[in-house]
Amino acid sequence: MKYSSQIVAFGLAGLLAGCGSEPAPEPVEQIVVREPGEAAPLPAADEAEGTTSPEDLIASGQAAFAVCSGCHAVEEGAPAQSGPNLHGVVGREAGKAEGFAFSEALASSGITWTDSELDGYLENPTGKVPGTTMVAGAMADASQRKAVIAYLAVSGSE
Ligand code: HEC
Repeated sequence: MKYSSQIVAFGLAGLLAGCGSEPAPEPVEQIVVREPGEAAPLPAADEAEGTTSPEDLIASGQAAFAVCSGCHAVEEGAPAQSGPNLHGVVGREAGKAEGFAFSEALASSGITWTDSELDGYLENPTGKVPGTTMVAGAMADASQRKAVIAYLAVSGSE
């Protein structure tokens, strides 16, 4: 019994983290002045673990989401594209978003999308859920996955 209550507590913490009451950050316009020939600065996601502020993490997650946005919208109520709308996906049961014909594999996976479940799926979708129809979009870079998941968590509390 001890083990299962720990798991429940962990799951709840994940859900609560997904429903943070913090307002979504305002879009920030940034003007970067650079000398000709100077290298572009590294994106925030490449910074050492722990030194990135939540705002920077979300901003770099939004930028990294560019590789997902060909298939996924995140705006509330936006129609599904070739992938389901991901608004509020953190904390939701897998394969249950409205308006999308999910694979049987994902719909019956029993997964609830916590940060760590998402991390495993984004690292290797077909490895995590054999039979899923998300056959592209894997993200090899752990810091990019972390940033994208932080961005998706905020997209649920707008
Ligand atoms: C080539 C199109 C494509 C790309 C690119 C893609 N996905 Fe997907 N994604 C899908 C499809 C299709 C599904 C539905 C899979 C199923 O039903 O098995 C899906 C499902 C998902 C789900 C599960 C949603 C739910 O409600 O259960 C998540 C989360 C997700 N994708 C995140 C991402 C992220 C984050 C990226 C970018 C790193 C990404 N995807 C890139 C097509 C794509």
